[in-house]
Amino acid sequence: MFAKKTMSGNKTFTIIKPDAFEAGYTGPIIQKIEEAGFNLKNMRLIRLDQESAGKFYAIHKEKPFFGRLCDYMCSGPIIVIQLEKENAVEDFRKLIGATNPEDAEEGTIRKLYATSIEANAIHGSDSDENAEIEINFFFS
Ligand code: CMP
Repeated sequence: MFAKKTMSGNKTFTIIKPDAFEAGYTGPIIQKIEEAGFNLKNMRLIRLDQESAGKFYAIHKEKPFFGRLCDYMCSGPIIVIQLEKENAVEDFRKLIGATNPEDAEEGTIRKLYATSIEANAIHGSDSDENAEIEINFFFS
């Protein structure tokens, strides 16, 4: 018998968050994403309302920062993007760095462009399953 090999998916999903959009970092961030080998498959500039933000972040509903997170994500335009690349989820999370920019490695998007754990410039799906859910949330 051959051992079953777990295949990682080739899709992930990202959001350029209000702080990064407002600061004019959309261009440099997309350039870094493309230089890292990701293909842009779908992209929209939108503004979230409280209801959509609450649904998108439902997993964090019980967290103390949930209200602030939703207010912040509704505070200005955002860019939502579907990305493709081999091993997309893991490679993209390496590219963006730790959730808290203070802990992010040099050269990562959050180290370069994020200002705090809340205003952390960019989102990246944390699993293939969530990438699919998040892509369908914005692009179906
Ligand atoms: P992200 O991983 O994209 O999606 C959930 C967001 O919640 C996360 O980015 C942060 O912006 C925010 N977040 C996570 N942990 C904290 C925390 N401890 N305090 C405030 N915000 C947080």
